Amino acid sequence: MSNDTASTAGEASSEAPKKAPAAAHEPLVRLDGVSQEFPGEDGSATNKVLQDISFTADGRETVAILGPSGCGKSTILRLVSGMYDRFVKMPTGGEVKISGKKVTGPHDAVLTVFQKPVLKSWLNVRNNVLLPFKAGLWGKGVSQKEREERADEVLEAVGLTDSKTLYPRQLSGGMQQRVSLAARLVLRPQILCLDEPFSALDPQTRKEMQELVLELWEKFPCLGLFVTHDVSEALRVADRIIVLSTRPATIVVDLSIAAPKPRSDEWLRSSEAMELEAQIIRHIRDAAQGNSHGSISLDV
Ligand SMILES: Nc1ncnc2c1ncn2[C@@H]1O[C@H](COP(=O)(O)OP(=O)(O)O)[C@@H](O)[C@H]1O
Ligand SMILES: [Mg+2]
Repeated sequence: MSNDTASTAGEASSEAPKKAPAAAHEPLVRLDGVSQEFPGEDGSATNKVLQDISFTADGRETVAILGPSGCGKSTILRLVSGMYDRFVKMPTGGEVKISGKKVTGPHDAVLTVFQKPVLKSWLNVRNNVLLPFKAGLWGKGVSQKEREERADEVLEAVGLTDSKTLYPRQLSGGMQQRVSLAARLVLRPQILCLDEPFSALDPQTRKEMQELVLELWEKFPCLGLFVTHDVSEALRVADRIIVLSTRPATIVVDLSIAAPKPRSDEWLRSSEAMELEAQIIRHIRDAAQGNSHGSISLDV
């Protein structure tokens, strides 16, 4: 018995310990052959929205998803965040993974900022920013003291320290969207989806918000998936631009934008930016092949 034990122990110690093979690095976001169909408006015909969409995004890059309205940009963000329509199979085909784990429903790695700010009218700015800690998994393990410190830090970063006691109705559209950004960044998401966040703002405010987003990325690094139908917005904020075709959307081109950020108006007027813009427009036109279900803004 003792011999057996000794021999077993001896064998075990003479062998190299068996380690699981090191897992290959999984990107934060992976879409693999994703397709999405919805029921058509008349309830019978099928609306094919996404077709064989594959891309990965990782680290702290900002990826702009650019495409005509109605092509399926918001649907891609919903697939990444797991905010599914409960009456529809999502995705219809392929799979979406976050850090190697298949997305099957809502999860806490991803937060989204929408075009329309989602603020509680009865809470002041600071309390709107603190509110997300009370929802879902996010606030667990974060002390009240830390929540308040983070809220004050992020309010400062979006330039609203002096407005923290105001209520949403007292804020301009741009200020409301600053609160929306703060109420996401306070949770320190790994992935932040922005769904045409500045489309409802006037051009000057919109430009200020684009500049603010670049500053915020420096202070609160995360992966950004920034949906827009505006080429100049994509050129200002993105490290990469994924251009989608009209419905059913396929990826027309995936472009890296190497120019250092922040990108000035001068850069946007430079020959480099003009050439990128022309390239994007050419790709969109080639993909459209005279078939148009939506429009894209080409005002660089
Ligand atoms: N839950 C849904 N049920 C049915 N159709 C949907 C649903 N969500 C989106 N769609 C349809 O999918 C298409 C793409 O929508 P969307 O992703 O919102 O486009 P985009 O954000 O590019 O403007 C549209 O035709 C829209 O009507
Ligand atoms: Mg949309």
